[in-house]
Amino acid sequence: MANLKVTAAGVVFPNPVIVGSASPSMDWVGTKKGIEGGAGGVIVKSLFGDMGKLGRSFPRPRFKLYDYKDYPGYPEKLPHAFTLNSLEECSHFGYEEYMIDVNKAKEEVGDTGIVMASLSGVSIEEWVTMCNMVNETKADWVELNVSCPFAADMGVKMGAGAVDMCPEIVRTCAALLKKPFSVKISPQSQNPVDIAVACQEAGAMAVNLSARLSGFDIDIDTMRPIGPGAQGGWGGPYLIGYGLKFVAQAAQRLHIPIIAGLGVWDWKDVIKYTLVGATLVQSGVGIMLQGYGVSKKWTDNINAWLDAKGYSSLDEIRGLALPNILKTAEVERAAEGIYAEVDYSKCTKCAICVRSCFYDAIKVTKVGAVVNSSKCDGCGMCMEVCPSNAVKMASPQRRATTPSSNSCCS
Ligand SMILES: Cc1cc2nc3c(=O)[nH]c(=O)nc-3n(C[C@H](O)[C@H](O)[C@H](O)COP(=O)(O)O)c2cc1C
Ligand code: SF4
Ligand code: SF4
Repeated sequence: MANLKVTAAGVVFPNPVIVGSASPSMDWVGTKKGIEGGAGGVIVKSLFGDMGKLGRSFPRPRFKLYDYKDYPGYPEKLPHAFTLNSLEECSHFGYEEYMIDVNKAKEEVGDTGIVMASLSGVSIEEWVTMCNMVNETKADWVELNVSCPFAADMGVKMGAGAVDMCPEIVRTCAALLKKPFSVKISPQSQNPVDIAVACQEAGAMAVNLSARLSGFDIDIDTMRPIGPGAQGGWGGPYLIGYGLKFVAQAAQRLHIPIIAGLGVWDWKDVIKYTLVGATLVQSGVGIMLQGYGVSKKWTDNINAWLDAKGYSSLDEIRGLALPNILKTAEVERAAEGIYAEVDYSKCTKCAICVRSCFYDAIKVTKVGAVVNSSKCDGCGMCMEVCPSNAVKMASPQRRATTPSSNSCCS
């Protein structure tokens, strides 16, 4: 059985799965449930400074899921790409209540997991106040949240709207904090990796990459945004590609640990983030929609995967995918002769491939979809859209050895 313990900034986490700062960690009860559900740590829902205290009360309702429960087979089967739009900024608590709650969480959790407080100030004075207060708590870790996707829309300089202040915030807090800390960075800046590097240079002990994007949808009848009416967080598992790229780039420029987390939906996502350099992996929406207990399922699966591959710890796989990630200029481009090949025993003649072939290379005949290989570019779109999985790409080698393929050679 592999050892799932990971160490970040000197803190030993029982496993890499972290309940992200969100509704599931709104108080000590949720934090305790997060650890009991199998997570190695919980980032408590953020405390906003008093200048952002409007965010301590929320609109109701405040969650809108797109492409979720209309998925075929729901709720037994869950989609792997959907969107959650929500407007829920921070903890209900004021300063004192927050610190009391964090203490209670740590008392309840004890040594079974890591309790991570999360702070988000509007001014440097607020950051100072909150750092001094959190120092006196039992929290194992502190996160500086400079990432809320929409808090700045309240008219204050915070979250994604305070990206330019990251180095100053980190320097100020690093000088005050007596605990290990991470800085949570917004993906909503021109180059979030540069921000992560600036945070490291300013003294960050770890970075959390990252929060969600912000956005809204429009109801075309009422002509108003759907939901509470303002922009909210806009995210979901569809964002994992963005997160993986972001973490991979950061891992090559940082020497401090990375808490990764954008679009984590299952155990494989935890492994993927580890392979591109993450030490810890947080989940927000994954826990919200699959429940606290999903962490245990994920760690069981990660353990089984490591065992099957012959690894004894996550340290052994961290960053292993990085050398395989090519620069755009390094990608092989001119593999001429690759073309689409149709398996007529599967083809239903639906013609879906025809409408997505921009090389006019497919015609549906009485035998099925026929590919004109002299027109076919080998782009692969027909293979992606075919509902019957009737299309494969044939390689030039295969073409040379199988002259009587079922594509049309005219
Ligand atoms: C409803 C909701 C509330 C959130 N509240 C906070 C918060 O208080 N502090 C914070 O740092 N991040 C907050 N987040 C962001 C999550 O911690 C996480 O960074 C984000 O959801 C991306 O991860 P995911 O793709 O796993 O959801 C919230 C997210 C959601 C969905
Ligand atoms: S999409 Fe697939 S099944 Fe439909 S015509 Fe094309 S190859 Fe045949
Ligand atoms: S691989 Fe591309 S060009 Fe060739 S038939 Fe399919 S869609 Fe058309």
